[in-house]
Parts: sequence; structure tokens; C-alpha cells
Amino acid sequence: MKRGLERNQIYSIDCLDGLDLLDSNSVDVIVTSPPYNIGIQYNIYDDKKTRQEYLDWLEKIAISCKRVMKNDASFFLNIGGTLADPWTPFDVAQRFRSHFVLQNTIHWINSIAISKEDLGISNKINRNIAVGHYKPINSKRFHHDCHEFIFHFTKGGNVALDKLSIGVEYQDKTNINRWKIATSDKRDRGNVWFIPYPTIRESREHPASFPIKLPEMCIKDHGISRIELVLDPFMGSGSTAIACTRLGVNFIGFEIDPYYSDIANNSVNREIEAIKSDITKISISSYL
Ligand SMILES: C[S@@+](CC[C@H](N)C(=O)[O-])C[C@H]1O[C@@H](n2cnc3c(N)ncnc32)[C@H](O)[C@@H]1O
Repeated sequence: MKRGLERNQIYSIDCLDGLDLLDSNSVDVIVTSPPYNIGIQYNIYDDKKTRQEYLDWLEKIAISCKRVMKNDASFFLNIGGTLADPWTPFDVAQRFRSHFVLQNTIHWINSIAISKEDLGISNKINRNIAVGHYKPINSKRFHHDCHEFIFHFTKGGNVALDKLSIGVEYQDKTNINRWKIATSDKRDRGNVWFIPYPTIRESREHPASFPIKLPEMCIKDHGISRIELVLDPFMGSGSTAIACTRLGVNFIGFEIDPYYSDIANNSVNREIEAIKSDITKISISSYL
């Protein structure tokens, strides 16, 4: 870390200035969600640049991020579009293409409907299910949008992941003995991640926060044991910082709006207090 920045803080500065303050090859994981340029009402940031301006700006940030990333770092970029203008994620990915390898394309599903017949006869659920937040839209053209991208960019395309840390149990346990690769009752969950918004939104004080589980999964997927520093250049309400606090990994964040960075730093402090009080409860109960 360079020029006065401390770990585990969210700084209220432009991320391009913040990135300039970080050492080259110092970051293991970047998890972030930039503004989508779709006219979201942020507190101060104006989310309506021209497409050209927006893409030029994000490409500059991509280049700065690449400089601070270690050679085996992961950059998880969450981005979505709108129903009427769905090209944003693809245009952004194209700009990143000149600088990174797109190692994985993860599909973040925040709501899904599964028919009983597709669940299979051995499944215990015996009805159609629909889970996640559903917001009806007034349109004959479009389906409700329940998907965003998490592009996993790396410098060389060959970063080994800790896939089983977010793995799922085998449904058919006979596979554990049948497949040599199966050393435990866990398999790769694949690149479709169902992450609903919590019923009580973690932060209503920010109009575009992602669930804390999203950065949590990305960080675990990269592999916690080899992480020294996680960066979120667009920290918003602090979801990435809270995920890092829960996982016990160091972070640094930038957020241009002091109102949001205050919210984020306060949420991290509350999370630390909650963790401390849980530890105290556990150690007291071990004496009882
Ligand atoms: C999509 S939101 C991030 C939300 C965050 N992932 C969360 O869960 O709360 C994008 C954020 O980027 C911030 N932002 C916009 N321009 C920025 C810049 N140049 N540097 C740092 N932050 C910026 C906005 O104020 C907004 O809070």
C-alpha cells in the first residue's frame, strides 16, 4: 500500500485517484459493480454519460485496475443493462477485452421459476416454485429481467480457482465413488449463481447495492487462503467491505460520494462489533 492509504478503509475519492495511490501488483481480487449508465438516481453521481464517454471512462479504470492486480489476481465485474438497452454489459466487456482474458462468464440470477416436472421425481419439493424478488413490468415486449453478468477477468486466463469453496453437494451420492475427480461430497456449482436480494435489503440507503453474498462468493471462489487484499473501486454502501469483514480478509475501497462512503464505513464498524459480540457469546457459553 502506498502514500498513506490504510487497509480496511473506504476512502471518499474518485477511484482513478485512489488507484493511482496503490502499488502495482498489490491486489489479489477486485469485486465491483460500476454505475451502469442507465440513469440511476445516485446521491451525487450523474449516471447519464454518452455511451462513448462511459466506455472510455471504464476502459481507463480497467487499465488502472490491471496495473494494481497481481499476475494471478481475479477481477469480478458485475454489470447489467436495461431491457430497452441491453448492450451495456457486452460493450463494456469488449472494452475490457483488449486488456484482460475473460476467464469465466458468471450469470447472476436473482429470481427464478422452476416447474415441478423439471425438478425430477426424486426431489422432495412437489410443487412449482418461484424464488427471488419479482417486480412486474408493464410491457408486452420484454420479460422481467432477473439476470446480470459477473465477468471474471484475469491477466492470463489461467488463474486456478477454489471452486469447491462455493461448491454444491452431489444430489446423487453414488457419483462420489464413481468419479475420480470427486474427492468429497462437493461439486463445482457452475457459472449460474442464484443469489436473491435479501427480503430485508441490506442497504436501502443506496439505490444500486448488490447482495453481500455476491462478493462473498467471488472472494471464496478466488480462494481466501491466498488473498492479501481485495479492492472495490466503486464501494457504494460497502457490500464488498462487509463481505471481506465476514470472511476475515483485508480490503480497500473507493467511493466518490462521502454520503455513501460514510454509510459503508459505518456498516463495516457495525459488522465488526457484531462479530466481536458473537465471539464473546461463544466464549461465555463455553464456560457455562
Ligand atoms: C453500482 S454502485 C455500487 C454499489 C455497491 N456494489 C453496493 O453494493 O453498494 C456504483 C457506485 O459508484 C460510485 N461512483 C461513481 N463514480 C465514481 C468514481 N469515479 N469513483 C468512485 N466511485 C464512484 C457511485 O456513487 C455509486 O455509489
